[in-house]
Amino acid sequence: MKSTRRKFLQNGTLAGLGVLSASQGLAAPFYIAKDWKISPNDKIRLATVGMGIQGHYDTNSALKVPGVELVAVADLYTDRHIRTKEVFGKDIFTTRDYRELLTRSDIDAVLIATPDHWHDTITIDSLKAGKNVYCEKPMVQQISEGRAVIDAWKASGKTMQVGSQSISGSVFQEAKRLLQAGEIGQINFIESNSDRFNSIGAWNYTIPDDATAENTNWDVYLKDTPKLSFDPKRYFRWRNYKYYGTGVAGDLFVHLITGVHYATGSHGPNRIFASGNLSFWKDGRDVPDVMVAILDYPKTAQFEPFQMVLRVNFANAGAIVNNTRIIGSEGQLDIRGNSLILSKNKLQKAPGFGGYDSVFTFPEEKQKTMEAAYKAKYSEEDRKYIPVKETTFKAPDGENSSILHFANFFDNIRKGSQSTIEDPVFGFRAAAPVLACNESYFQQKPILWDPETMKLKKK
Ligand SMILES: NC(=O)c1ccc[n+]([C@@H]2O[C@H](COP(=O)([O-])OP(=O)(O)OC[C@H]3O[C@@H](n4cnc5c(N)ncnc54)[C@H](O)[C@@H]3O)[C@@H](O)[C@H]2O)c1
Repeated sequence: MKSTRRKFLQNGTLAGLGVLSASQGLAAPFYIAKDWKISPNDKIRLATVGMGIQGHYDTNSALKVPGVELVAVADLYTDRHIRTKEVFGKDIFTTRDYRELLTRSDIDAVLIATPDHWHDTITIDSLKAGKNVYCEKPMVQQISEGRAVIDAWKASGKTMQVGSQSISGSVFQEAKRLLQAGEIGQINFIESNSDRFNSIGAWNYTIPDDATAENTNWDVYLKDTPKLSFDPKRYFRWRNYKYYGTGVAGDLFVHLITGVHYATGSHGPNRIFASGNLSFWKDGRDVPDVMVAILDYPKTAQFEPFQMVLRVNFANAGAIVNNTRIIGSEGQLDIRGNSLILSKNKLQKAPGFGGYDSVFTFPEEKQKTMEAAYKAKYSEEDRKYIPVKETTFKAPDGENSSILHFANFFDNIRKGSQSTIEDPVFGFRAAAPVLACNESYFQQKPILWDPETMKLKKK
């Protein structure tokens, strides 16, 4: 039977994977692309740029979505070409130069999983070449790079997804639903942390002993950063260096803030202050391993002002409890991995009388009349303590938010739509505040940001 795109949409991808439609999660798209084309027989043909750790994870997730095929891989390091063929098949085309993929008319989508300093350039080149783009988080490495990516995306009419996958999972879908239903009242504070205590978790990935400037294509890797001589640590542990990575803020805060923006619908903070320290991993890195950021969210039509506090501690040898707590005037949402706990906590009407109170410091007679007046004013019901009510939500067993995130991307490609769950405007609104954390840390001052116009503000 000849498959049609419409039939595919009905039978496969998102419907089968149980994802909400993009329009349920985001504002209306800027526009719907008109001139979309998919390669023969409805397959989406994918090329990955950067087949390192996440390139492997992402490509595997993408290929679990029905109707997706990997055809090519670009990576600067030649050993990763060999590994690509071992894992994904000997016929996969491999190259060191991603631009070779962009001239091929049989590639529909490009997945970018390179170090952060390459994200903007490869994204813009891919969009200009008419490719749909899935770009890993953070969308850009510098705040100044965001606008050009958004402009290229709008001009291209192509579909783009930024890769903070957890928002496609059912925990964040549920968090959004609960917040919209007003279950925790008015948000006043959000805290989220992502601590670790192990060497690999602190980004010290294994380095091959035969890596050279030649087989890693070092000069190309450096791009527009200072022309340093070959240093395998700067290549294989690029997160530890500010020229190539984005520190704990870009690596981990970005996931926390993406989840919060998705669940609340907020566009972002207007004042960002971060403080930190290189406290434990003194291995030559030039970014902190402990960082705390305070982000002030302004009043909007939907929200009263609230604060968000983000923390990463790579030297937490104590008990690690990583969670995101969204606290409101009537309860909280506590998100931990695949589960979410809603606690509803309403104050009783009566303000309280006695106990740790000033009452006992007044004369006996006065206490009696005050108590009688209090009881006359507030009924027993008004005085009754309302117990905290907890409801736990768990994601379905085996749910994989990365596959769902890719499914949302491919589904939008098939529809010719730009309204993915994490489009570049959303992606930049999540990236810019975390990049501002780095600015704040290095400049030792608060950074002002306009989340609506997406521009830095002067004092
Ligand atoms: N969404 C998530 O949960 C998640 C998790 C981990 C990493 N990431 C993101 O994925 C990206 C990759 O991280 P990683 O841990 O896989 O890094 P990695 O070092 O393991 O892999 C990067 C790969 O890119 C290649 N490369 C570098 N510059 C290139 C270029 N110009 N052209 C082609 N190939 C190039 C390298 O050779 C390497 O194979 C980063 O942006 C990171 O923030 C996201």
